[in-house]
Amino acid sequence: MVFLCPQRQHDLIPQAHPPETDLALASEIKDFRTWMFQLFQQKISAAIATYPDEEDQDRLYAKIRPGLDNCPEIMVAHQRRGELQDQLWANVLEAIDRDRLRLDAVYNAHRSGSGRVELNSTLNIPVHQQKTHIHRMPGGYLQDLEADSYGSGLLYDHGVFLYGRGWFGPLNDELGQTVIHQVLNQHYPDFQPVNILDLGCSVGHSTLPYTSAYPEARVTGIDLGASLLRYGAARASVLGETVQFAQQNAESTDFGDRSLDLVVSHILLHEMPGAARRRVFAESYRLLKPGGLMVHLESQLFLEPPNLVGRYFRDTEVWANSEPYLASSKFEDFPRYALEAEFAPEAFQIYRVPGHYGSQNGDPTPRWIALCGTKN
Ligand SMILES: C[S@@+](CC[C@H](N)C(=O)[O-])C[C@H]1O[C@@H](n2cnc3c(N)ncnc32)[C@H](O)[C@@H]1O
Repeated sequence: MVFLCPQRQHDLIPQAHPPETDLALASEIKDFRTWMFQLFQQKISAAIATYPDEEDQDRLYAKIRPGLDNCPEIMVAHQRRGELQDQLWANVLEAIDRDRLRLDAVYNAHRSGSGRVELNSTLNIPVHQQKTHIHRMPGGYLQDLEADSYGSGLLYDHGVFLYGRGWFGPLNDELGQTVIHQVLNQHYPDFQPVNILDLGCSVGHSTLPYTSAYPEARVTGIDLGASLLRYGAARASVLGETVQFAQQNAESTDFGDRSLDLVVSHILLHEMPGAARRRVFAESYRLLKPGGLMVHLESQLFLEPPNLVGRYFRDTEVWANSEPYLASSKFEDFPRYALEAEFAPEAFQIYRVPGHYGSQNGDPTPRWIALCGTKN
């Protein structure tokens, strides 16, 4: 099985390319990753055997790391890792090009969206996002080459599906569904938010599930990227959902003090440096009403790698897959960020939860970490 779920072929997904192209690439990436992890495991096992008396995992890691980075087979693997990621984007760009006229027509028919998009061309983009093309995405999240461009959003939407090979669900909404079903329903069953804000929403993959889960709520997604948001609004309209989008900085928003019930983010924190993460926690606290809840969802592999293989993978994603901020905070820093933001110590909880689609397919393994704070 290459894809866990089939992709939902909504009208903004490129349709004129042969599906076998995506399948062949996804299959190659899957096989490559299996081989790469086996290689890491084999080399790490051999390296740690040379330090039988070293029990401290941090010191052990520091000792074996240079040898891993200089191992020729591992260097080849890193090279291939980057090439396959570039190939993924190239496939998506080609698929978009083949279907450009139809996609433009769909976008134009839905561009005003069913909610609102508030763009701000004078927004100060944080320096840490200005030169970063996370995941080697051509042009990065912020590319906005022409007036009313929606290209970055289109590229991201289809690219995420291929990258996740269906593990993010038919609509790439795994993370929002996971917060709703594995965090809120399980740990805060009586919580009924009315005003919800999704920070770093990108094209709204994780934002949209909140409209179905809380039909009475006003749901807003913010991001720095205008093109992502334009596409997100059109996509929401294609899918018949009503969401508000705004171009704002999650570290310092325009929303009022104590104006929101629920502030969420989904895989935002690992893409910003530690200082920005602290500001997001402080901003979340400022925005929440008393009794309101903050939930930041992150990948367990990235925040808390379970072993040295996971740690080596995480740390080399920094340059092999352009993820510069992955290890910017130690796991134990997050409770401190919450305390500094004024969450009471007992009001900050960390939950390790399975993914929504994985658990629906019988995989209860915790894959996500939810950093949750209630404002007293
Ligand atoms: C990995 S993507 C998020 C994916 C999305 N939350 C989802 O669940 O599908 C990270 C997003 O965070 C945005 N971002 C990064 N720093 C930000 C900031 N300071 N304020 C708002 N958005 C930010 C990026 O533009 C990008 O769209």
